[in-house]
Amino acid sequence: MSGTARSMEDSFAATYGAPPSGVWSAPGRVNLIGEHTDYNLGLVFPLAIDRRARVAAAPRSDGRLLLATTGKGQPAEIRIEDLAPGKLAGWSRYAAGVHWAFGLRGIAVPGMDILLDSDVPVGAGLSSSAAVECAVALAVNDLSGAQRPPEELVLLCQQAENDFAGAPTGILDQSASLLCTAGHGLFLDCRSREGRLVPLNFAAEGMLLLVIDTKVSHAHDSGGYADRRRDCERAAEQLGLESLREIGLPELVLAAGQLDHRAYRRARHVVSENARVQSVVGHLESGKPVAKLGPVLASSHESLRDDFEVSCPELDLAVEASLAAGAAGARMTGGGFGGSAIALVRVADAERVERAVVRAFGNAGFAAPEVFAVAPGSGAAQEPLLTDPPHAGML
Ligand code: GLA
Repeated sequence: MSGTARSMEDSFAATYGAPPSGVWSAPGRVNLIGEHTDYNLGLVFPLAIDRRARVAAAPRSDGRLLLATTGKGQPAEIRIEDLAPGKLAGWSRYAAGVHWAFGLRGIAVPGMDILLDSDVPVGAGLSSSAAVECAVALAVNDLSGAQRPPEELVLLCQQAENDFAGAPTGILDQSASLLCTAGHGLFLDCRSREGRLVPLNFAAEGMLLLVIDTKVSHAHDSGGYADRRRDCERAAEQLGLESLREIGLPELVLAAGQLDHRAYRRARHVVSENARVQSVVGHLESGKPVAKLGPVLASSHESLRDDFEVSCPELDLAVEASLAAGAAGARMTGGGFGGSAIALVRVADAERVERAVVRAFGNAGFAAPEVFAVAPGSGAAQEPLLTDPPHAGML
């Protein structure tokens, strides 16, 4: 469980012998819809969740970067000038990768003491690594005086994840973590990188968004994710296109003969998923109830399972069991190969859905899933220091 900002400051002082200069935090995310579309320059619609990575930091004058966590990960230490891909392993490469990416932009990054505390579950497909990157990016942005805008920090954190940590992901996770605001989803066009915030009133409609963490750990620096990226690039190439963003479903169906069967199915997922994002955003922006999103969430899941082949038996069961227990809609979320599903449920049905999913996992002989509600949380920000001296006027 994450500590409060106060205990962060205390833990930092206990670790490094002096208080931090600041505490910065960034959320994990769930993607409501728009999966495996970001690196195809398509459309996504994620929300930040109310689970965050918090980073307390202070600059050092000796050019060394010290990284520690209140969680399970190992501490690490490296000179800023020695930072290079492959030099660190585990969680610390997400934090150090951000320092490295600032350096690539010619920004003089000071040495730093960093303490991480996160309650974003790791390996659950909720972007725990992007949350670390984004919180560290805010800290470095402030402490180095770089003052780069959040849109640039998105690309900088993606670079840390791709080129330093070695996971060839798109901009979905970092955009959600840095650009979302409380009570909203982010409708983002990954080609123009323009986005807009769309209100999400789950609670006002008597609805809850449940996350079902299957406990099947995923990792996007291993083969499957990169394979899917290559399949999509091959499909675009066979169609003579720069990216799959340039084609709609009717044209794809007509061009089917130009594609091998696998490339066609991968492309059909991406192209139909872009259309589903538009339909969900259109639905919500015209004031229609979130509870009616069931069919479009179901087709997203089927497309990811059958055409894109990134689901797994646990994710499929999470979706089936929650729908059978009365969820209004459900689908896998994130990159897949494990991780989490989401289920939209009426508040009154939440416990029944949770019990049904846990029972179904037990009956299937799967490890127990973790089911919890998430609310659309705020994006990355600096947190007030609780040890700040009170304002003179308040004395
Ligand atoms: C992971 C990646 C994202 C995105 C999703 C799939 O979360 O980090 O960039 O590709 O998978 O939508």
